[in-house]
Amino acid sequence: MSENIPVEDIIYLDHHATTPMDPEVLEAMIPYFTDHFGNASSVDHLHGVDAGRAVANARSSIANLINAEAKEIIFTSGATESDNLAIFGLIPYEDVEGKHIITSEIEHKAILESCSYFAKLGGEVTYLPVNQHGIIDYEQLERSIQENTRLVTIFAANNEVGSIHDLSKIGEITRKHGVFFHTDAVQAIGRVKIDVRKDKIDMLSISAHKIYGPKGIGALFISKRSPRVYLTPILRGGGQEGNVRSGTLNVPGIVGFGKAAKLIKRDMKSMNTQFRDLQAYLWEKLKKRIPDLQLNGPPLETRLPQNLNLYIPGIESKSVIQMLSKRFSFSAGSACTTDVVKPSHVLMSMYGDENRAYQSIRIGLGKSNSREELDMFIDSLVKGYSLLQNMS
Ligand SMILES: Cc1ncc(COP(=O)(O)O)c(C=O)c1O
Repeated sequence: MSENIPVEDIIYLDHHATTPMDPEVLEAMIPYFTDHFGNASSVDHLHGVDAGRAVANARSSIANLINAEAKEIIFTSGATESDNLAIFGLIPYEDVEGKHIITSEIEHKAILESCSYFAKLGGEVTYLPVNQHGIIDYEQLERSIQENTRLVTIFAANNEVGSIHDLSKIGEITRKHGVFFHTDAVQAIGRVKIDVRKDKIDMLSISAHKIYGPKGIGALFISKRSPRVYLTPILRGGGQEGNVRSGTLNVPGIVGFGKAAKLIKRDMKSMNTQFRDLQAYLWEKLKKRIPDLQLNGPPLETRLPQNLNLYIPGIESKSVIQMLSKRFSFSAGSACTTDVVKPSHVLMSMYGDENRAYQSIRIGLGKSNSREELDMFIDSLVKGYSLLQNMS
């Protein structure tokens, strides 16, 4: 990688990994690092009450985004923790034996690694396969529910190929069988309308840094309506967050998360229109100039508006990324696994083809991207493609 280039000069096309913080979010957060520094649990004085009020406001804004109630939102350090808490809060480590959970083969590692630990502790896990659009078979899901099934955890939208599940269909099935339904909605939030009541979702994970908020702050929605979810804490301490998640609240982070939630709710429609335009523009222009190019995952209309995952037959994605890295940031798969040279588990599950998995790139569009930037990217990718083709 070319470390000496100022990152500000590089066009960022990896918004599934993280997003830049919105300046309005930063502005909202700053006072909570300085003058308004109180501990939100210090109810005996005004510094604490002031911080507590800010947390309450943020909680409402986040709840609003998914049609939940503020008291159903628990703050965590991010979606990794939320995913862990959803699974091991519902089925504590010591109770895992004999319990069954259902998930999909193409979840984020925060779910997959938790599931593999669940199995190590003596639990049973069913990993549902997905079709070439990155979607589970809903009938197979229903058939997989057993007497001892406690939880179904299926993502709302995939972070690599942008596939989107029909959450209400899953909620219908899980409710019918009396099984809890958790969804990792990190990539879907602000892009797809989610209504926890209509979709019969019992738990839902989100993270601020994917919606132009700060890193290190996330939330878990835990339904308090019937069937009410009761979680055992995985962290023990001061009993914050209704005793479900101990630890001094990250007030500036929470305030930023709340602001980001408000902004994304306000801007969702216009941002999605912008992304759909850029997504179609990029795909059509590239396909014209590299006819061999193939789309991984669902067709444009049914995938996340900010996502493209492209198979460039014959060209290793690592070489393209390296060749273009002085001007563009994009990735070969999910960010959490980029330092491990392994084919993407998502593409492997969808296509079972290692070459395809090693020859694919992921583009995540963001609100600062423009057609002009994409023109530059297209030119560079086409040039890089020809060079690499000649070299091989
Ligand atoms: C679908 C999904 N789930 C969970 C996570 C983890 O989120 P966090 O970075 O907040 O721990 C990510 C981040 O890459 C993600 O894309």
